[in-house]
Amino acid sequence: MTFVQTIQTKPFEGQKPGTSGLRKKVKVFAGPHYAENFIQSVFDTLSGYQDQTLVIGGDGRHFNSEVIVKAIRMAAANGFGRVLVGRDGLLSTPAASNIIRKNNAFGGLILSASHNPGGPDGDFGIKYNASNGGPAPEKLTDAIYARTQAITSYKTMDGTVDLARIGASTLGSMTVEVIDPVDDYAVLMQSLFDFDAISALFKSGFSMKFDGMSAITGPYASRILEGMLGGKSGTVMNGTPLPDFGGHHPDPNLVHARELVDLVMPPGGPDFGAASDGDGDRNLIIGRGMYVTPSDSLAIIAANATLAPGYATGLVGVARSMPTSGAADRVAAKLGIKCFETPTGWKFFGNLLDAGLATVCGEESFGTGSNHVREKDGLWAVLMWLNILAHRKESVYDIVTHHWRDYGRNFYTRHDYEEVESDAANRLIKNLRDSLPKLAGQHDISKADDFAYDDPVDGSSTKNQGIRLIFENGSRIVYRLSGTGTAGATLRVYVESYEADTAKHNQDPQVALAPLIKLARSIPDIAKHTGRFEPTVIT
Ligand code: G1P
Ligand code: ZN
Repeated sequence: MTFVQTIQTKPFEGQKPGTSGLRKKVKVFAGPHYAENFIQSVFDTLSGYQDQTLVIGGDGRHFNSEVIVKAIRMAAANGFGRVLVGRDGLLSTPAASNIIRKNNAFGGLILSASHNPGGPDGDFGIKYNASNGGPAPEKLTDAIYARTQAITSYKTMDGTVDLARIGASTLGSMTVEVIDPVDDYAVLMQSLFDFDAISALFKSGFSMKFDGMSAITGPYASRILEGMLGGKSGTVMNGTPLPDFGGHHPDPNLVHARELVDLVMPPGGPDFGAASDGDGDRNLIIGRGMYVTPSDSLAIIAANATLAPGYATGLVGVARSMPTSGAADRVAAKLGIKCFETPTGWKFFGNLLDAGLATVCGEESFGTGSNHVREKDGLWAVLMWLNILAHRKESVYDIVTHHWRDYGRNFYTRHDYEEVESDAANRLIKNLRDSLPKLAGQHDISKADDFAYDDPVDGSSTKNQGIRLIFENGSRIVYRLSGTGTAGATLRVYVESYEADTAKHNQDPQVALAPLIKLARSIPDIAKHTGRFEPTVIT
C-alpha cells in the first residue's frame, strides 16, 4: 500500500519563472524541498486536473531523473489519473509539446534549462506547459510565483517508479506510462515533410552533419536523419545525450557549436550543417561558406514553406519576437499575410497559433517553429531546410543570397554581455528608459520607446519588453536583460539595418553594422556601467 504524505515546508525566495520557466543552479534545485515546493505551487495554481493526464519529461541533464521521480510521486499524490513520461525521463521540449497535444493531456512538466550548461555545477529548470502544449502564459506563471511565496506543505507518496522500461504500471491510483521519447515525434515530422524527396537528396550524395551537442536531440536525429531518411552513418555527431553535455555549452550558435562550424564552413565541407540545443528546441543552420542567421532562416522558411506537404496550402500569418530582424516582415508583405511582433519568449506565440492567426514563428535566438506544436522545434527547422534543399536543388549559399537579392538583406547581430553585475545592468536599463524622451531626435533616431505588447487574442498587455531605438532609415538598436540566466545579469544588444543594394550584401555583418554597434555602445555607455569593452558572445 502506498499512502499520500503531506510534507511541511516553507516558501523559498525567488521561485519566479523567467522567460522560460524557473531556472536555477542544480545546487539550488537539489536543496531539500526546493523542486517539490515549485511543483506543488504549479499544481496548487491549477484546477480540474483530478484523474487527468500529465506529461513529464526532461532534457536528460544532471538531476533530471531525480526530479522526474519526485514529480511523478507528487502527481499521484495530488490526484492526477495518468502520467506519460519519456523512457529514462527523456523528452525533447517539442516532443513533450506534441505528446501533450496528441493525448489531450491536462498539461506537462518539462525539466530543462535549455541551452544552459549542465552537470552538477550547471543549471536546472522546470516549466509548466498547458493543454495546448505551450508554455504557461504570464498570468499563470505570475500565479505560480505568488503561490511559491505562500506554500506551507506539499503532497507526495512512496512507491517504485521504473523509468527504464516502456509500459504501464501504477502508483497509488495513478497510471504511470513510460513511452518511447521519439516515436510520436517521428510520425509527426513524417506527416509534415516530404521524406521521399529528402531521402532522394541523401541518395544523390548530399552530405550533412548534425551536431546533437551531447544533448537530447541525438536519438531523435539519429532515428529520423539516419534511420528514416537514409543519411549516411555519422551524419549525426555528438548524438548520445550526456548529463553534463560532455562539459560543453549546448547552445547551437557560432561560438558553442564551433566543432560543427569548422567542419561545415570551409570549402570541401558537407553540403549542410545543423545543430540543436540542450532540450531540442533551438536550431543552427549552416551551409558551406554560409551561416544562416535565425532571422533570415525564419524569412526563408516563410518564403518556401509551401514546398513542404504540411504547409502546401500556404501560411495564414507569421510571427516574430520584437528583437528578431524584420526579414520575415518583408516575406509576409509579399505573401499578403500579417507579421505579428511579440515580446521575447515562445509563450507569446501560443495565442496566435491557437487562434489560427499565425502558422510559422521565430526568434533571433535560434528558435523557429510552427503550429504543429506550441514550442519552438530544432529538428523541425532542420527538416524544413532539408525539404527546401531537396526541392530547390540549390546550395544553402545560393538559397540565402537569392533571398537577399529578392527581398534585400537585413544585416543583423546580437551582442551579449554575460554575467554583469545585476545592479549595474538594471541601472543601465533604467537610465536608458529615463532618457527615451530626449533620445528621439538625436542621432537620426525617429522613435525611442520601451516595447509593450497588446495580445490581439486575449487583450492582455505586457510592458517593458525591451528598449527600442528606431532610426529614420529603419535601422534599430534594441536593449533588454535576459530572463533565463542564473548568475548576475546578461545584457543583450540587438542591432539591425536594412540594405536593398545587392552589391553590398556580401559584407560581414560586424563590418556593415560597425557604426550602429559603436552607437549602441556609446548611447548607454555600456563600458562605464559594466566595465566591459567587448561583449562576451556575438551571434
Ligand atoms: C532567451 C532568448 C529568447 C528565448 C529564450 C528561451 O531568453 O533570448 O528568445 O525565447 O531564451 O529559449 P532571454 O535570456 O533573452 O530572456
Ligand atoms: Zn532550448
